[in-house]
Amino acid sequence: MVQKGPQSEGRIARTVLQKLESLHRAGVSHMGKVPLRAETPPADMAAVAQSPDDDRAAALAAGTHAPGDDQAAALAAVQREVAACVRCAELARTRKQTVFGAGNPLARLVFLGEAPGADEDRQGEPFVGRAGKLLTDMIEKGMKLKRRDVYIMNILRCRPPGNRNPLPVEAAACRQFLDRQLAVIQPEFICCLGAVAAQNLLQTTTSIGRLRGHFHDYQGIKVLCTYHPAYLLRNPSAKRPTWDDLRLLMEEMGLRVP
Ligand code: URA
Repeated sequence: MVQKGPQSEGRIARTVLQKLESLHRAGVSHMGKVPLRAETPPADMAAVAQSPDDDRAAALAAGTHAPGDDQAAALAAVQREVAACVRCAELARTRKQTVFGAGNPLARLVFLGEAPGADEDRQGEPFVGRAGKLLTDMIEKGMKLKRRDVYIMNILRCRPPGNRNPLPVEAAACRQFLDRQLAVIQPEFICCLGAVAAQNLLQTTTSIGRLRGHFHDYQGIKVLCTYHPAYLLRNPSAKRPTWDDLRLLMEEMGLRVP
């Protein structure tokens, strides 16, 4: 689908910035006499790079047709199917509601978690409990993005009773929804949070310790794996390597890395 308007301008500007950044990283400092990167990027370009989705938020607030409306409608259709899904009999019986995913339907970056917990099951939105608060801080205070600019979802759309790990058969049953959401959003990046998300997405048994720290590929999308925020709450010493991972992601996305 061809996107028009300010959103696509934002995307083009970001792509140009990314290309310039990668040339700069490759050691190219000038194009002719023009320096490739000013020490401080112009404020308006920095804003485009860091908060691309204000256009959508403004259009939504004004009640006009917003970039991403078509994708939002496509996601809503998938969401209706998810809400009626009873493929996993135990999960369908024990859930309060399904937890589809939330965020910008045009997001460049998708965060992928494991499965809803009790708070998410109650509220119908992913990552709204204690781990979710930490994830929001990682996105907003760490990466200087807005939570509404990214998209957040899980391997499973139902809470496993007692917060047990998803069964392979449940992850397989939910996979078509995950892939359909990704097909609509078409993100450039996925950040897998924790071993369950990473191993399920990439279909591997490799440990999160070995998967983190470098990029993988999933259907042409760049995938970075890092520790789950709930793990960070229990193991604060893992925050440092997680921040290293997020910085790597930011660099690859062409964002300003502090
Ligand atoms: N943990 C997850 O993996 N996903 C959520 O939505 C909440 C907590």
